[in-house]
Amino acid sequence: MTTRKRPEELRSHRWLGVSDLRSFGHRSRLRQVGYDTVDWAGRPVIGIINTWSDINPCHTHLRQRAEEVKRGVLQAGGFPIELPAMSLAEVMVKPTTMLYRNFLAMETEELLRSHPIDGAVLLGGCDKTTPGLVMGAISMGLPSIYVPAGPMLRGNWQGKALGSGSDVWKYWDEKRAGNITEAEWDEIENGIARSFGTCMTMGTAATMMAIAEALGLSLPGASSIPAADSNHPRMATQSGRRIVEMVWEDLTIEKVLDQAAFENAIKVHMAMGGSTNAIIHLVAMAKRAGTQISLADFDRISREVPVIANVRPSGAFLMEDFFYAGGLRALMSELRELLDLKCMTVTGKTVEENIAGAKVHLRDVIHPMSDPISSEPATGVLFGNLAPRGAIIKPSAVEKRLLKHRGPALAFDDYNHMAAMIERDDLDVTADHVLVLKNSGPKGGPGMPEWGMMPIPTKLVKQGVRDMLRVSDARMSGTSYGACVLHVSPESYVGGPLAFVQTGDPIEVDVAARSINLMISDEEMAKRKAAWVPPPPRYERGYGAMFSAHIGQADEGCDFDFLASHVPVPEPEIH
Ligand code: FES
Repeated sequence: MTTRKRPEELRSHRWLGVSDLRSFGHRSRLRQVGYDTVDWAGRPVIGIINTWSDINPCHTHLRQRAEEVKRGVLQAGGFPIELPAMSLAEVMVKPTTMLYRNFLAMETEELLRSHPIDGAVLLGGCDKTTPGLVMGAISMGLPSIYVPAGPMLRGNWQGKALGSGSDVWKYWDEKRAGNITEAEWDEIENGIARSFGTCMTMGTAATMMAIAEALGLSLPGASSIPAADSNHPRMATQSGRRIVEMVWEDLTIEKVLDQAAFENAIKVHMAMGGSTNAIIHLVAMAKRAGTQISLADFDRISREVPVIANVRPSGAFLMEDFFYAGGLRALMSELRELLDLKCMTVTGKTVEENIAGAKVHLRDVIHPMSDPISSEPATGVLFGNLAPRGAIIKPSAVEKRLLKHRGPALAFDDYNHMAAMIERDDLDVTADHVLVLKNSGPKGGPGMPEWGMMPIPTKLVKQGVRDMLRVSDARMSGTSYGACVLHVSPESYVGGPLAFVQTGDPIEVDVAARSINLMISDEEMAKRKAAWVPPPPRYERGYGAMFSAHIGQADEGCDFDFLASHVPVPEPEIH
């Protein structure tokens, strides 16, 4: 039998329920807002962490969704308090939102800690907002429920469905090849983002929203609901009702997130053909939760779980279709024999109970495990002398001929060097070359930007080349595709072997053998290492300086060293 909390045991009671000078201040100031005793007395205070902003198109509706969450909180007898947090609009924030994921995590954790909050509702969805919110909530440890922003509607151009990101890269190459006019390009710009909500391909947003649900942090099916569907506000209100009960049940986030929950999430990630970015975020989240997840787990699980979601960039459809096909509950039901069905979730029920009765309605969109959409897995973790601590590739989105490849490097020192060269008609490059981009990792980028899907040199695009092997310490968008080896660790900026690659060096990648090697002798490698001069720090002051001093490498999840542990932080004194 579950023991329910008593009102005096609520965390907020320390602020609002006692009779002293400070609590007088807290209550009198709530009265200043127009609240009365009846609003808070004996009620759980629910913090709604909202990543809405005017400039985040993926979160346009979150202002309204916060109201719908509040309605649910009130219905269930709670006291809702909305707390705005950094919005992290993926396409707007420069140099990259990844520079600020840990900032949002810190903000979330400290907003919850410093206020009289008993339970948290996390409103996010655009790429880094999900891991940022969840990492912060894990470290704070309150009962927490995640409300995913949901994907936008399908794009449309001349009757063809357009997918965020993936179709931008695709049609940009067609434009560079002279196959699309300026006017058509303009039509695509008008048709690719038709409603509020996140990218509707299986990019980082859709991947992370699904992962949060697979971890047990949102209501069943929540992550697949399109943002503009009327199911979405109902889900928000239901989440508001549920968090109040979670507080009374003391269903804290650590009771949901155990090792098995993370393994379930990785399995779902693989089955969806999810974004490579999710690997970094899951490692960081798992560390915060005190569980043990490493790159080796991703490689092991990728060999066990086939890609069955036929969603771009690995497949053909979009998230709206995935919802009509039954959504994540249906996909998890297909994976049932591989999942730990006993995992607890925010519903207070197990995964098994949450997916009971789920069915696949569109077999083209969610395949059975016996008929995967690709013979290649969603993730390959490569090791070798070029990536001693690992690198990532997405084999399901690679032209098959490049899964085993050896070619001469064409090395660029940084993004500007690459951008200046790639359009040149006289660039000495063939389709067999391996493009190498340095200084794009966590410290070098800085923030490990999504530069890993380097453009195919214009000269080759005109010849019809659409994929070639690319190696970098950058990330790539989850909407990207191609033979891109990413997250090379350690990064070149701190003296990882990628720093020593010279144009013309042979590089060999063998995905089946999970290897990546620079084919030079150990002596030559040692000689180049001895001659390497570390670059100056990117920042002398401010957040960037703190970031540079504390950021971890990709294989560690890129968390700050002082945040990555599971050590408890004391509750604030109230004096
Ligand atoms: Fe927000 Fe893609 S830009 S999810």
